[in-house]
Amino acid sequence: MGIEQGELFGLLGPNGAGKTTLISVLSTIVRPTTGHATVCGHDVGRDQDAVRKCIGVVFQDPSLDDELTGEENLDFHGRLYGIDAETRARRIDEVLDLVELIDRRHDLVKTYSGGMRRRLEIARGLLHRPEVLFLDEPTLGLDPQTRRRIWNHILDLKDSYGTTIILTTHYMDEADQLCSRIAIIDHGKIIALDTPEAMKAALGGDLLELGIADPDPEFVKTIRSVPEVAQVSVQEDKLMVTVENGESFIPRLLSYAHDHDAPIGWVSMRKPNLEDVFINLTGREIRDEAIKEPGDRIRIFLRRKNK
Ligand SMILES: Nc1ncnc2c1ncn2[C@@H]1O[C@H](COP(=O)(O)OP(=O)(O)O)[C@@H](O)[C@H]1O
Ligand SMILES: [Mg+2]
Repeated sequence: MGIEQGELFGLLGPNGAGKTTLISVLSTIVRPTTGHATVCGHDVGRDQDAVRKCIGVVFQDPSLDDELTGEENLDFHGRLYGIDAETRARRIDEVLDLVELIDRRHDLVKTYSGGMRRRLEIARGLLHRPEVLFLDEPTLGLDPQTRRRIWNHILDLKDSYGTTIILTTHYMDEADQLCSRIAIIDHGKIIALDTPEAMKAALGGDLLELGIADPDPEFVKTIRSVPEVAQVSVQEDKLMVTVENGESFIPRLLSYAHDHDAPIGWVSMRKPNLEDVFINLTGREIRDEAIKEPGDRIRIFLRRKNK
C-alpha cells in the first residue's frame, strides 16, 4: 500500500494493535523482522539517515524537557538538526504561532498543561520542515475540548505546509473527522483500508435499534424480507436493523410491529460510525475511553431505563 503526498492518513486500531510499532518501523527506530517500506523514496532499513532527515515524529510518550522553557526545547531540537541560528529563530516563532504558544514560550514546560505539551511537541516535530510527520496518538488522554483544539492545529498545519501526516489513534471519531483515508489495524495487520465515508457506507445504511425481547420470528422475517434492509440481528433485548433510509423506514417498521403485536419499548436510529465498522470486521469493540457520539449516550440511557 502507499500513502500520497499531502495526505492526512490515519492508522486506527485498539490498544496493542501494532500502531506504535508500525510508526517505529517507518521512522527507523525499530528494524522490521520481515517486509520493507520506503519513506520519501528511501528504504527504512538501508537509508536510515535519509529517512530521518525527511520525517518528524511526535511520540506517544511525552519527550519534552520539563526543566527547559518551551522555546528552549524547540531551540535544542533545531540545533540537533543543524538549523542555523537565524532560521531557527524564525521558525521557532512560526511554529509557536501555529500552535498558539507564543505567550508561554518563556515558561518552563513543567508549568504546561497536557494539551500545551502536546502542542509544543507537534511544533517541535515541524521545526525542521519535515515532508512527512508521524503523530502517535496525538490526543491520548486529553479532554474533549483540548482534543478538538489539537485537531484544528493538525488540519492547519496540513493546509499551511502541505505536510504528509500519518497519525495513529484508537479514537474512532478522531480518525473519522481528520483523516482522508484510514487503515484499520488489528493484531499487527491492516484489515481495512479506505475513506471513512466508504467504510461506513459499506455497512449498508442507517442503524435502527428496537427495544424488544424475544421478538416474534414472523415479525423478524417480515423485516428481513424488505429489500432496503441490509441486515437484521436479534440480540438479547433488542433488534438491530441496518436499512438504507432509516427515517422513512421507522413508520413502516412500527406498522409491521403493530400487525404482529410486537411490544416495542423504544426505538433509536443513528448513522453508522467507525466503531460499527470495526465491530463488523472483528466482532469486537475498539472499546476504551473512546468518546461516544451523543446519539450513543441517548441509546445507553434508554437501555438502562428499560431494565
Ligand atoms: N506486525 C507485528 N507483528 C508482530 N508483533 C507486533 C506487530 N505489531 C506490533 N506487535 C507487538 O504488539 C505489541 C503492541 O504493539 P504497539 O505497537 O505498542 O500497539 P499500539 O500502539 O497499537 O497500542 C508490541 O509488543 C509489539 O511488539
Ligand atoms: Mg501505541
